[in-house]
Amino acid sequence: MSEAVVEAGRRRTFAVISHPDAGKSTLTEALALHAQALTSAGAVHGKGGRRGVASDWMELERARGISVTSAVLQFAHCGRVLNLLDTPGHADFSEDTYRVLAAVDCAVMLIDAAKGLEEQTRKLFDVCRHRGIPVITFVNKWDRPGREALELLDEIEREFRLRPTPVTWPVGIAGHFRGLVDTREPERMLRYTRAPGGAREAVEEQLTAGEAAAEADADWATATEELALLRETGAVHDREDFLAGKSTPVFFGAAVSNIGVRLLLDAVVDMAPPPGPRELEGGGERPVDAPFSGLVFKVQANMDRAHRDRIAFVRVCSGVFERGMTVTRAASGKPFATKYAHSVFGQDRSAVETAYPGDVVGLVNATALRVGDTLHTGPRAVFPPMPTFAPEHFQVVRPVDVGRSKQFRRGVAQLDEEGVVQVLVSDARGEQAPVLAAVGPMQFDVVRHRMEFEFSAPVRLESLPYTAARATDQAGAEGLSRSRLVHGEGMRRVRDGTWLALFPSRWHLSNFQREFPRSPLDPLIAAHD
Ligand code: G4P
Repeated sequence: MSEAVVEAGRRRTFAVISHPDAGKSTLTEALALHAQALTSAGAVHGKGGRRGVASDWMELERARGISVTSAVLQFAHCGRVLNLLDTPGHADFSEDTYRVLAAVDCAVMLIDAAKGLEEQTRKLFDVCRHRGIPVITFVNKWDRPGREALELLDEIEREFRLRPTPVTWPVGIAGHFRGLVDTREPERMLRYTRAPGGAREAVEEQLTAGEAAAEADADWATATEELALLRETGAVHDREDFLAGKSTPVFFGAAVSNIGVRLLLDAVVDMAPPPGPRELEGGGERPVDAPFSGLVFKVQANMDRAHRDRIAFVRVCSGVFERGMTVTRAASGKPFATKYAHSVFGQDRSAVETAYPGDVVGLVNATALRVGDTLHTGPRAVFPPMPTFAPEHFQVVRPVDVGRSKQFRRGVAQLDEEGVVQVLVSDARGEQAPVLAAVGPMQFDVVRHRMEFEFSAPVRLESLPYTAARATDQAGAEGLSRSRLVHGEGMRRVRDGTWLALFPSRWHLSNFQREFPRSPLDPLIAAHD
């Protein structure tokens, strides 16, 4: 077996997805604490001055207490190497999350026990389904009053058409937590008690059924009945169904006290798939033991203000990456030297010498690289393009000081390449007034801030009255701009040349179709529509 195959088999690359405040940062910290962090422990971000704010490298993030950018955390557990890719918590940055999901093999869906499925959970789950990513569910905050466990399972099944198969089961209702049962060992209860000295992690002990009955009495009896019911209905983990996206193993716990976190971590190792062959554009696939290939899923500029550099995050898909190797950028066929390859964890960097399928490498000063690019050695490989979310917010951007138009153009181009926003142009509007398209309005705050502080080109933004965008052709886009009958405007997306039709609301779509029957009107991504 090749080195790439052996090492790929040891890798588990995953992301935690959740609605803001469900406890993603807390769970990430708890996972890293449990596992042996291979990189600096401060890599996990926290909010509002909590420990380890290393990924909050942007001033804006610090000011707002949100995580705009994503960090990567690598740790070891049970002889495996886990790569946890962080995703931004705020819904306005779902485009960024989507790109991170293109780089993982599994997702942990975090649900707040009191709130159940929330809006952002639904959107992110749609993306996982769209990409065929298997999902492990963690029901968090069981230490607080919340919904009933069976009710939460029902909701997952009904709304996501995903069969929930509990792997752990709570003894005691939410807020009256007595312990957990590992459904593979139903004769035992795991009891958690606060550690002496006020440490956050609870101590885990195993009780026999007799001890559990004595301790938890009616709660143990209820849990035993519920477990029997679940077995009868066949709610039992099945690897094939899970990998096929038909079922989700479910875990219960409380990330804040580390309850149930070890079992979740074990599950990532045991259940999450290792990196496998990756589908290629135009058919076929690239096996993990093929020569090196990697996917650029994120480009981030100016992470280090002292250096003003630009980092492309590359997920290794096949082969072995070695620092210094020359790879080919598939889009241009041009060589790219990887002398400055780093592992990037928040602000901490260390040179990476070797990386295997599933790992993430940060290429510094990667000015030629774009999000969605494929890098390779040996036979050419191109991975399918990353779909973008349909933007719903549109603003015209102009430089405050026309004397700084060079910096303005450079900044806008940079933010476009990073995917901070989509940049749209048209002949009618001209180069000095492109339109920025975003999924969430907070993306514009990032633009405003970065244009002023990084590119020294303060901007004025002005909202346009559009809320819907569809892909069309040149005739449709130009016809729409001229039309007196259909409200809207046609523009071209700079990034990939796609013609877009912008409308004040979806009600105007049918008018367009009547007026321009020969022009297509395609949603930009199904998951969001
Ligand atoms: P996020 O990244 O998904 O946005 O969530 P985050 O971890 O920041 O958690 C949101 C809030 O929920 C935090 O409270 C956190 O302490 C709390 N939390 C997370 N997991 C659990 C849990 O298992 N049980 C309980 N009871 N609470 C949990 P906060 O008040 O916003 O912040 P803090 O002052 O507690 O840090």
